[in-house]
Amino acid sequence: MSTSKRLLLVNGPNLNLLGTREPDVYGHDTLADVEDLVAGTASEAGLEVRAVQSNHEGVLIDAIHEARNDCAGIVINPGAFTHTSIALRDALLATELPVVEVHLSNVHRREAFRHHSYVSDIAEVVVVGAGIDGYEFATRQLARILG
Ligand code: DQA
Repeated sequence: MSTSKRLLLVNGPNLNLLGTREPDVYGHDTLADVEDLVAGTASEAGLEVRAVQSNHEGVLIDAIHEARNDCAGIVINPGAFTHTSIALRDALLATELPVVEVHLSNVHRREAFRHHSYVSDIAEVVVVGAGIDGYEFATRQLARILG
């Protein structure tokens, strides 16, 4: 398959615990459910998915750098790195790929430190507060952007 047909799905720290972590905030679906949903949605749009989740900033940055070679766009939930990581932002910028940012919870209804994102102003689309459905929408939006 051509390199223009793959998206990178990035999930940041603690998202490996989805389903058991604060289910009242993040729901009962697991990371595997999220990755399946994105893969299914992407495949309907003729896209493949490479999924990465890590609790380590450098691992996420390396995966984003790698996307320069063979991905057409990025769907990312950077977890708490959203609010802290200039390095992740710089890595996303370096790819020059379209980015769709997604958060399960409505970060704007939560603590003030979650209101700022280092990613939102460089993202094509930002989806918050829709739970796991937000990933489906984010994937459809990226597919639309990729034409
Ligand atoms: C999150 C929101 C972040 O503030 C938090 O640190 C997360 C998950 C979300 O999906 O709602 O880990 O990105």
